[in-house]
Amino acid sequence: ADPGPLQDFCVADLNSPVLVNGFPCKNPANVTSNDFFFDGLQKLGTVFDALNVNLTEVDVFAFPALNTLGMSMNRVQFHPGGENPPHIHPRATELSLVTEGKLLVGWVSTAYVLNWKILTAGQVFVIPPGLVHFQLNVGKGNALFYAFFNSQNPGISKLAPALFASTPLIPDPVLTTAFNVNKTIIDLIKSRASVLI
Ligand code: GLV
Ligand code: MN
Repeated sequence: ADPGPLQDFCVADLNSPVLVNGFPCKNPANVTSNDFFFDGLQKLGTVFDALNVNLTEVDVFAFPALNTLGMSMNRVQFHPGGENPPHIHPRATELSLVTEGKLLVGWVSTAYVLNWKILTAGQVFVIPPGLVHFQLNVGKGNALFYAFFNSQNPGISKLAPALFASTPLIPDPVLTTAFNVNKTIIDLIKSRASVLI
């Protein structure tokens, strides 16, 4: 969750050389209704990643009016078999609303309990902040969902690339110990992980 605003609005000046916790405000004298309007979701995305997902972020970077307002959203499209792989949002709770298809949604608590559900259109799942979660299209056709966050900039860290495709790489001994496997296995995963970023 983000801190609360100290004024009605603070449309982000994304080009400001000054960095604060969030962005400085564009001069309110130059703000119009158009600043509070985002029209980027009429058309579905056409570019899918290696895991058959198209993720469109409507965060403060895409929609500067969200600055200081503590909210944002994503649209996530899945081809059959598409997966939004295990990841965390360091700064937000997520509400996931499925609008099309059949999506397996799950998250793991700090007690390592998996909570999961298969969702269809009109159904919602909530993911507590900072916990590992994922979505997999388990239907025959495409799937679509919208995620809503209580942060203008929830952030995303995918576990597979965080552990196996960082720059520089995490040294093998750290990972062989952590995963209780040998170096051959770690190196194999590392050799395949960069496409997952
Ligand atoms: C889904 O989990 C998303 O972060 O968009
Ligand atoms: Mn998420």
